[in-house]
Amino acid sequence: MRPGNDGVTSSRGALAMIRLRAREPESPDTAGRERTRVMSIHGNEGQGSVGLSGDWDRRRLVNRRRFLGLGGMSAAALMLGTGAVTSNQALARPFFSGDPFKLGVASGDPLPDGVVLWTRLAPDPLAEDGSGGLPPEAYGVRYEVAEDEGFTNIVNRGAVEAIPELAHSVHAEVDGLRPGREYFYRFKAGSEVSPVGRTRTAPSGSAVDAFRFAFASCQGFSSQYSAYYNMAREDLELVIHLGDYIYENDFGDRNPRGMDLPGAVRPSPRTLEQYRLRYGLYKADEHLRATHAAFPWMVVWDDHDVVNNWFGENDDPNFLLRRAAAVQAYYEHLPFRANAKPVGPNAQLFRRATFGDLVEFNVLDTRQYRSRQVPESQAADPSRTMLGDEQERWLLDGLDRSDARWNVLGNQVPFRPLSVGLRDGEVVEKYLSDKWEGYLAQRDRILSFLAERAPSNPVMLTGDTHFNDVSDLLADFDDPDSEVVATEFIGTSISTGGEGDSDPNYGPFEDPWRKFLNGGRGYVRVDLDRELLRADYRVVETIQDPTSPIDTIASFVIEDGRRGVQNA
Ligand SMILES: [Fe+2]
Repeated sequence: MRPGNDGVTSSRGALAMIRLRAREPESPDTAGRERTRVMSIHGNEGQGSVGLSGDWDRRRLVNRRRFLGLGGMSAAALMLGTGAVTSNQALARPFFSGDPFKLGVASGDPLPDGVVLWTRLAPDPLAEDGSGGLPPEAYGVRYEVAEDEGFTNIVNRGAVEAIPELAHSVHAEVDGLRPGREYFYRFKAGSEVSPVGRTRTAPSGSAVDAFRFAFASCQGFSSQYSAYYNMAREDLELVIHLGDYIYENDFGDRNPRGMDLPGAVRPSPRTLEQYRLRYGLYKADEHLRATHAAFPWMVVWDDHDVVNNWFGENDDPNFLLRRAAAVQAYYEHLPFRANAKPVGPNAQLFRRATFGDLVEFNVLDTRQYRSRQVPESQAADPSRTMLGDEQERWLLDGLDRSDARWNVLGNQVPFRPLSVGLRDGEVVEKYLSDKWEGYLAQRDRILSFLAERAPSNPVMLTGDTHFNDVSDLLADFDDPDSEVVATEFIGTSISTGGEGDSDPNYGPFEDPWRKFLNGGRGYVRVDLDRELLRADYRVVETIQDPTSPIDTIASFVIEDGRRGVQNA
């Protein structure tokens, strides 16, 4: 959208309905691409177009501290909303009981010409009814995108409606930007202006020689996000989040981080209102908000974003209702494009993102389509699936067609055999039915594909286990001498599981494919260029101190064209 083409578009007509039936698979290759145009916010597509002209009536001083979200929240506009208004009037409703941008801002799913910008209006994020403290009315939200953090060179602006059916969240898909460029963005509702976010479009073609990103998962709220305090200070082009953004635990009488939690936030969430409250709680963390404001993210769920170890349908007759509530709240609180908007309990979350001819990410959804978990004796049943047929075809076809030097799979649960952990310094191995080892037929088809079709430099990134863990993937794990076909980097938790043992353990391990194991907390930073991938395991000193320092405790490299990981 270009300046002068502003308008308000309602997404009311596309609201998710609770429909408990299978969703027709969409064309996943277009996820984040062609289909984004359907919901793109060019003026007059929806009802109630409202002209926007002139500069915003209030400018704020912007500096680096501010766009990192470290500069505090905006002052409240002490006015009360009155009466119902139509969507045409949404922009003229400037009444908030407090700062409506307490949940911060975010951007995601970058393309060469655009990103999606996110916020949610919520002056009272822990209001018991999950409303965020707003009445059930639509609000107009404007946004601006600029080349500079002072917003002197604005390249895109527009407006969208934040509607109560989507918790007053905003997912503004901006296009018309230039590839491989840094941009700054902010929102305005009434006279309230959001913190400034920084984002970056994807490069295109061969114009990129290097790329740096981080991946993370598992952020239980009871401990501090010192990992995010440090991640926000990195120089990254992308953050990949591999699931367990929230946990569905019952807080009981406990007060995480010493907060005096309202009663409505305590029980394990089951309803949409309760899941919304859970996100309101998690996004109270300033370092999480700062990391969202600093980089574009790509996110995908795992089990705890709904409930522990869920599979396609579960046995609880009310499970699909719970899943529908969870996935809607997940969509509402993260920078997803409209093509990920849920329909009942389903959402199109597996997708691909390409960064020139250097790297392509295949973000997998290992939760939504999987068969139920079974004992080890049944794990090889050929009818079992982790990805579903459609996603398996999409993945293998995409890898086959990819022109990228590095082909990255964003995965949730460990792919290499036998779960492994550290107990009192000892390495412990066991079968866990929730992991890929419980879905052997599909795992082996993927390994065979990697051996036979040999896509360029396949690398798997994984979350879930709360351990740092590096393994080479073999064409046939029953034959330890079979060829290495890829490497799996498993990242530890941001905060889940308590303080871990941060001593690096390089083995030797009983299984020859294992290279590294460690129980510290943090994230993995990855540098790519045309010759080398380097993975730095970043581990914080403690998850008790929110600004705890971080250190790289181990680094690994993979050379272009050479299978297998090496110590850096
Ligand atoms: Fe987890």
